[in-house]
Amino acid sequence: MPLALVTGASAGIGRAFAESLARRGYDLILVARSTARIEALARDLAASHGVRCDTWTSDLASEAGREETAARIAALPRLDLLVNNAGFATTGKLSKILLDPQMDMLRLHVLAPMRLATAALPRMIEQGAGGIINVSSIASFLYGPGNVNYSATKAYLTSFSLGLDTEVRGAGVRVQALCPGFTHTEIHTEMPHVKRQIPGWLWGSAERVVETSLRQLAAGGPVICIPGTRNRILRRLLTLLPHALRRRLAVRKRKR
Ligand SMILES: NC(=O)c1ccc[n+]([C@@H]2O[C@H](COP(=O)([O-])OP(=O)(O)OC[C@H]3O[C@@H](n4cnc5c(N)ncnc54)[C@H](OP(=O)(O)O)[C@@H]3O)[C@@H](O)[C@H]2O)c1
Repeated sequence: MPLALVTGASAGIGRAFAESLARRGYDLILVARSTARIEALARDLAASHGVRCDTWTSDLASEAGREETAARIAALPRLDLLVNNAGFATTGKLSKILLDPQMDMLRLHVLAPMRLATAALPRMIEQGAGGIINVSSIASFLYGPGNVNYSATKAYLTSFSLGLDTEVRGAGVRVQALCPGFTHTEIHTEMPHVKRQIPGWLWGSAERVVETSLRQLAAGGPVICIPGTRNRILRRLLTLLPHALRRRLAVRKRKR
């Protein structure tokens, strides 16, 4: 059976990846900090789909957590799919919010996916097959006050995926930058104003995000995957606007 490792598998999009991959017959390694949640999910998936499901508790924002997880990945006899999904969001101007979570965001969104990819790639290249999905965001194409670090870390992930694809595609390894728009998960729990401010028609489900991602990866589709027609149109419109106009819109939107 193919083997997939999903980071941030205890909730939201990561959990939806785990469920969908188990339905497709993948054995799984579920990674997150909440041991009880990933163990309960592993038991459910093993019982419902007859797959093998291991759990690795790890804080990927810590160097020890990243290095231990990377070492365990490098020691696997085989890995078919790595889903770098773990992440979180904050709001507030950089000069006014706490520094520690922003440092953790860089470690979790930038260092962890890069480190785990370097651990997984030698085996995938040797196999001549494999996939890496980096869960970025439509925010990687946008910027504005209150979201500076989140957008910047996601822009890294999108750019990293595009570059990595050019290095490994010839070896049979596929890379995807998955760029969801607003998705119902636990990420906005601490930010109820986001749910109030963003119109309902812009929200989608984690299941839909995951199905689009896995379908596009299997079809050998483009590196950037933006689930949902509205999100694809939004991204196209935004990237067509000249830089100066985008900047003016972002600043004006925040002042309102
Ligand atoms: N929801 C959206 O609207 C949206 C849109 C675009 C992109 N995304 C991206 O999608 C990804 C998943 O987010 P989500 O919306 O599904 O959020 P979520 O429901 O809050 O889930 C986040 C997952 O990340 C894990 N995680 C957080 N910090 C971690 C750490 N230090 N080490 C290991 N695991 C950690 C959490 O598990 P533990 O707490 O158990 O560690 C949880 O499993 C993120 O990268 C996010 O930026 C989300």
